[in-house]
Amino acid sequence: MNILLLGAGGREHAFAQKISKSAHCEKLYIAPGNPGTAQFGENISISVNDFDAIGAFCKAKNIQLLVVGPEDPLVNGIFDYFKSDIELSNIIVVGPSAAGAQLEGSKAFAKGFMERHSIPTAAYREFTQSNFQEGVSYLKNHSLPIVLKADGLAAGKGVVIAQTLEEALHTFEEMIQLSRFGKAGERVVVESFLTGVELSVFALTDGEKYILLPEAKDYKRIGKGDTGPNTGGMGAISPVPFADNVFMDKVIKQVVEPTIKGIAEEGLIYHGFVFFGLIKVEGEPFVIEYNCRMGDPETEVVMPRLTSDLVELFLAMAQGKLENGLIETDKRAAATVVLVSGGYPGEFEKGKVISGLNEASGTQTMAFHAGTMEKEGNYFTNGGRVAAITSFGGSIQEAVSTSLAKIKSIHFEKMDFREDIGFEFPG
Ligand code: AMP
Ligand code: GLY
Repeated sequence: MNILLLGAGGREHAFAQKISKSAHCEKLYIAPGNPGTAQFGENISISVNDFDAIGAFCKAKNIQLLVVGPEDPLVNGIFDYFKSDIELSNIIVVGPSAAGAQLEGSKAFAKGFMERHSIPTAAYREFTQSNFQEGVSYLKNHSLPIVLKADGLAAGKGVVIAQTLEEALHTFEEMIQLSRFGKAGERVVVESFLTGVELSVFALTDGEKYILLPEAKDYKRIGKGDTGPNTGGMGAISPVPFADNVFMDKVIKQVVEPTIKGIAEEGLIYHGFVFFGLIKVEGEPFVIEYNCRMGDPETEVVMPRLTSDLVELFLAMAQGKLENGLIETDKRAAATVVLVSGGYPGEFEKGKVISGLNEASGTQTMAFHAGTMEKEGNYFTNGGRVAAITSFGGSIQEAVSTSLAKIKSIHFEKMDFREDIGFEFPG
């Protein structure tokens, strides 16, 4: 079949590689893609939010499967756009309807959903302009740290963990009164801070049945030992040592199953990935956030570990035939180390020549492009997160060491990365 993949990051490079290996893939296009995805299909220069152009392209090229990488087009209703056009409505779309994508697109919706279905999550309250003063009192009476979340999509910047009351009040005012977070911050979820270890769990669902993909853990902070500001993700590992059978059973019973059942009960049309951002607190799982897509950089370790044919899983989803037997995984560990532009997640420069990137790929290693561009046969940096170097290993440390060794021969000016991905799991 002809397949169109939307997105341009490391996640999409990993998806493109996996999809291109499928027995069902005749022709793969990626919009807009990056120089990495171009190794596995044809990049086309269409933005992920230009639904008219995407729809016209799908008609012209007889696309049968649309895989949506990032959240924006889903929250903006690309699924609904396809289903409302008679010529596009037969295309299998991997990604939920706009109603389903609210699980990521609205933190307030997600919290309400969890409350309605008794899914464990941090206690919270919701505030807007209309109950601003009540919010101020709430903050004053709450323990610290406290978490403030802009309701809408805020490109990963909408969550503030305030350590002091002053910071909490300042952020609260910035979000609601001063619109510093745009429309996304007009409604704010204020929730209790949970202390524990985080992991990412992924389901592929048709809104009733589901299968679980390998779990992963991402490293969000810029600095060694999980310090400094949050980023899009500096690395990831899979499997996650503390996600043992006992814990995963709880995740399935207390989180995954009630979520899928809730989606069905609320009549949300949902054919795609559910990303459960979880925290393990004293052995129990709590949901920190839902996303309506795969994670980045988690995909760069999950896809390599998935040995099943991914397109076959998408077809099973479309036919209502998802079942756990379909998932086969590589038992080895995988780790990815993200190469970022110096200064990221603050200001950084672009346009630096990259050397040695593709050459880093080998039998154990895959060099995924993220923010790169190609000009006259050379690669240049084109974003904060530039590439993700994934390796397999007998252990997490071995996988990380292999990636770090490969990174020694990759260069660009002001390249930065974390050398301690997987640091909590020595040996
Ligand atoms: P997000 O931008 O939604 O991915 O959230 C960023 C990060 O904030 C999460 O990965 C957690 O590390 C942290 N976080 C969010 N909510 C909480 C919470 N209730 N307790 C502790 N940490 C949190
Ligand atoms: N790695 C976290 C995310 O994709 O949101």
